[in-house]
Amino acid sequence: MDRRSVPHLHAGALLTDPPYSSGGLHAGARRVEPAQKYLDAAAKRSYPPMLGDIKDQRSFVMWATLWLSECWRLAKPGAPVMVFSDWRQLPVVTDAVQAAGFEWRGIVVWHKPSARPMLGSFRRDCEFVVHAVKSPSRTFTRRCFPGVYRHPVNPAAKVHLTSKPIKLLVDLLAITPEGGAILDPFLGGGTTALACIETGRRFVGVELSTEYYRLAGERIKAEELARTRS
Ligand SMILES: C[S@@+](CC[C@H](N)C(=O)[O-])C[C@H]1O[C@@H](n2cnc3c(N)ncnc32)[C@H](O)[C@@H]1O
Repeated sequence: MDRRSVPHLHAGALLTDPPYSSGGLHAGARRVEPAQKYLDAAAKRSYPPMLGDIKDQRSFVMWATLWLSECWRLAKPGAPVMVFSDWRQLPVVTDAVQAAGFEWRGIVVWHKPSARPMLGSFRRDCEFVVHAVKSPSRTFTRRCFPGVYRHPVNPAAKVHLTSKPIKLLVDLLAITPEGGAILDPFLGGGTTALACIETGRRFVGVELSTEYYRLAGERIKAEELARTRS
């Protein structure tokens, strides 16, 4: 993110799904194309390349600390923070979130029943959302929420290699201020933006890939148009 591009944003919350730079024990394995690392060999669809997914563990944690620090600068006091991660990167994401200045509050589990089975081992059917806050902590709702959400990945609805289900993001947004501005510095196919539209929140998205930037823009326009017509 470029500090000059969003100087006056006061984000009411951060909800983001950065490239995990995961998928292997060693640096070489992580440098493999994301489509090979993350897609089932039987998957038939192809997606535009996901950028920035080849960092080794040390550069990943330094890089995450840098962008999270910039998000800390842009966030309002009390802003909830939710950052997706997988099991491999979870420890370093919790480090980076705290190194950037946020107060770590817990982990939310996303259970994806559609994950492939692991012969002789445990199914890796969970991803995680690191939950934090820009102190001092505030609550924006009187409701209580679960710590585990179950949403299958619908391959037909995917526009990005790692698209998240919109319903999951709608669920996560429930702890953020109503009508607040939600920052997603890794917009991908625009799922966060669509969930913000659905829940009446504003959003600011950043995306490095021109293809995904266009794709997300088209989806956002189509959704806004559909809502003005209905
Ligand atoms: C895991 S994907 C997000 C997917 C999104 N949640 C969805 O459901 O479509 C991460 C995105 O971040 C983008 N990206 C990688 N490095 C970036 C950077 N430095 N700044 C902005 N976007 C970046 C990638 O191109 C990719 O589209």
